Amino acid sequence: MSKFKKKLDKIIQHIIDKKTGSGVMQDEVIAEGERFIFPGMPEAIRQAGAEGTVLLKNNGVLPLDPTQPVAMFGRCQIDWFFVGYGSGGDVNPPYTVNLMEAMKKAGVSFDQELAQIYTDWTSKEENKPNEGWWGHWPMNYDEMPISKDVVEKAASRCKTALFVIGRSAGEDRENTLTKGSFYLTDEERVLLSAITDAFENTVVIMNIGGVMDFSWTEEYGDKISALLIPWQGGMESGNAVADVLYGKVNPSGKLPDTIARHYEDYPSSDNFGDAKTTKYEEGIFVGYRYFDTKAKDKVLYPFGFGLSYTTFKTEITVPASFDPEKEGSDAGSVCVKITNTGDVPGKEVVQLYVSQPAGRLEKAAKVLVNFAKTEELAPGASQEITVSFDARSLSSYDEALHAFVLEQGDYSFTVNDEDAGKVTLDGEILVQQCEPALTKDVDLKQRILDRLPEEITTSVTEKILLSDVASGKYTLDDFVAQLTNEELEALTRGHGMMYSELGVPGNAGTFGGIIPSLQEKGVPALSTSDGPAGLRLKTYTALIPCGTALSSSWNRELTQQLGRLTGQEMAHNNDDIQLAPGLNIHRSPLCGRNFEYFSEDPVLSGRMAAAIVLGVQESGKASCPKHFACNNQETKRTLNNSVVSERALREIYLRNFEICVKEAHPKTIMTSYNKINGVWSHYNYDLVTTVLRKDWGFDGTVMTDWWMQSSKSPEFPSLQDNAYRVRAQVDVLMPGGDRGQEKYISDGTLLATLGQPEGITKAELQRTAKNVLKLVLDLKY
Ligand code: BGC
Repeated sequence: MSKFKKKLDKIIQHIIDKKTGSGVMQDEVIAEGERFIFPGMPEAIRQAGAEGTVLLKNNGVLPLDPTQPVAMFGRCQIDWFFVGYGSGGDVNPPYTVNLMEAMKKAGVSFDQELAQIYTDWTSKEENKPNEGWWGHWPMNYDEMPISKDVVEKAASRCKTALFVIGRSAGEDRENTLTKGSFYLTDEERVLLSAITDAFENTVVIMNIGGVMDFSWTEEYGDKISALLIPWQGGMESGNAVADVLYGKVNPSGKLPDTIARHYEDYPSSDNFGDAKTTKYEEGIFVGYRYFDTKAKDKVLYPFGFGLSYTTFKTEITVPASFDPEKEGSDAGSVCVKITNTGDVPGKEVVQLYVSQPAGRLEKAAKVLVNFAKTEELAPGASQEITVSFDARSLSSYDEALHAFVLEQGDYSFTVNDEDAGKVTLDGEILVQQCEPALTKDVDLKQRILDRLPEEITTSVTEKILLSDVASGKYTLDDFVAQLTNEELEALTRGHGMMYSELGVPGNAGTFGGIIPSLQEKGVPALSTSDGPAGLRLKTYTALIPCGTALSSSWNRELTQQLGRLTGQEMAHNNDDIQLAPGLNIHRSPLCGRNFEYFSEDPVLSGRMAAAIVLGVQESGKASCPKHFACNNQETKRTLNNSVVSERALREIYLRNFEICVKEAHPKTIMTSYNKINGVWSHYNYDLVTTVLRKDWGFDGTVMTDWWMQSSKSPEFPSLQDNAYRVRAQVDVLMPGGDRGQEKYISDGTLLATLGQPEGITKAELQRTAKNVLKLVLDLKY
């Protein structure tokens, strides 16, 4: 494609995307300067990549013998997908290591003749992948044509073949039910057949960001000797895969999602991708909750599954016990002893599940309660682990009562398929009474009016600086009471554009002290940057494994360490807020951003996200978990309405965020683009004020996802756009005004109704100002 044609296509597509409301196209950020890598990062990324690799099948061919040559097929051995696309993938790593490079560095034997053919072909200009542009990136790369003869000749030199299959998707780029995206291409099938026919062993390596079709693994059956999913493991991907292939690291990854036989088997498959409305008809039966309960036979590889080069014994040393009246995360526990019964060192994941009693509420056959991972156990060595949990982890949400309840009956526990005891409750227990929220039955207008804040005043007449608040001379209330309406307004929105000159080069936007009078009072601007796989800045930063890979490791300590290092990298770059982690639920395998997110399960998602947040914030920086909530598809993500039952919200789509907020106290959070039950998240009072702040105790800053949809409040029709948003306590519009504006100047919607009946009140402006300024004080003073 000529450069001119590509540019024209891009412009036309951009206009179409803007018109249809689907695109929020961003420019690629290109790094400059020294190719710096933060010390400790490469090792942690490599380790996380290897631990996040899931071994689904192995007839004994793995680990490979480094002295025996292997033949490597598939162009992705060179053109590896290190991450997915969009704001969550646009990181500039100082280097990347693909599989071929890693094999060379590891000094293992591989067929040079074949490697040369792939090297020559992929380096030719006409074969280089067309990387496309925002929302139109390639989902796969055309495979190198290769004759049967070449395959057979390679098989005469090597017993074992490796075949790398690659896929990618991203922001504004769903996976599709087509060959080359969810399905294998004809060329891949032809090649796979040729390889499996010719070689004694075939090892298939899936370089993907989320689950795709695996039904072909059944068709090929024993012809596939081993199957490995290293996902998109970041800049050290190749090294991590080689570590696993050659047994330097014993695989310990477990699937964070169910792999069903066919796409149509997923409970979301009838309700995904609609432009306007997404009905979450499956309710709480998402992922394994559905398959284990209603469709066991449709599972190809179950949630939590993954093989090792060794074997483990799980013994329950203290069966499950729990005190339903006790508050906190140690209301119950199980003690297990894991012993390595095989010949090589390895780590094992401890997965604790509960089966709740059948009662008036329909229950999933089993639910993940909590998990842990052992240290590396030498052959014969054991480790005893106590896995604890709170009462909420066993409870169900009763919509009639608007409460989490434990119904009476037997709660049966298992750990790694071993019976871990039973606790019987004689009567029903109310674990947590919630306020009805996000449903139509609430008189939202009255609720908002009843809870309007009180205006703050001060008797201080001297001009207060923010440093006076930091030093304790005056209170934040005193400071806020002196702010003018113009200053209060400016605190509720970003500087107006991405790559703001007030922030770190390459930032995604700034907010806080964005006008001179605030700056004069000592309020600096805060800089934000994407995203879950590393920092997107105009400088070289580490590209860490994608969310799916991290969650497959089930290793919270290692994930926290990556967060800690990212926080240090932020400090090194003067960055303040990382727009990560992404923790939306893998509701459908087609969601383009699944690579950024963790899992189909809210406990795994929430706890892995918490690990990242804890790490980043330990380094003195802020995390921004996103997208709150139900951003489960990219198709028309800014307009789509997620129609979800109260129970599914509470048990699945809010639960992940609740776990993260309560465990890790993120300093900021980002709302999603979509509507939830008819109300856009960035205007959603119940989501942000009732549930997040009041019920969960979140006391940080809430920001929108980038730009928002214009709307009037149905409850208070005089409130438009920013006034509607601030009433919901969505504090900051990011990155500011409409895309394309040079600098955002107040659009007038926030202050238009100030002081009028039912209009925005000064106290609401002050409340939001305090939410923002607390963060400024925390990060800058
Ligand atoms: C994405 C966010 C991202 C933001 C800023 C949006 O399009 O949905 O995840 O943080 O852009 O780049």
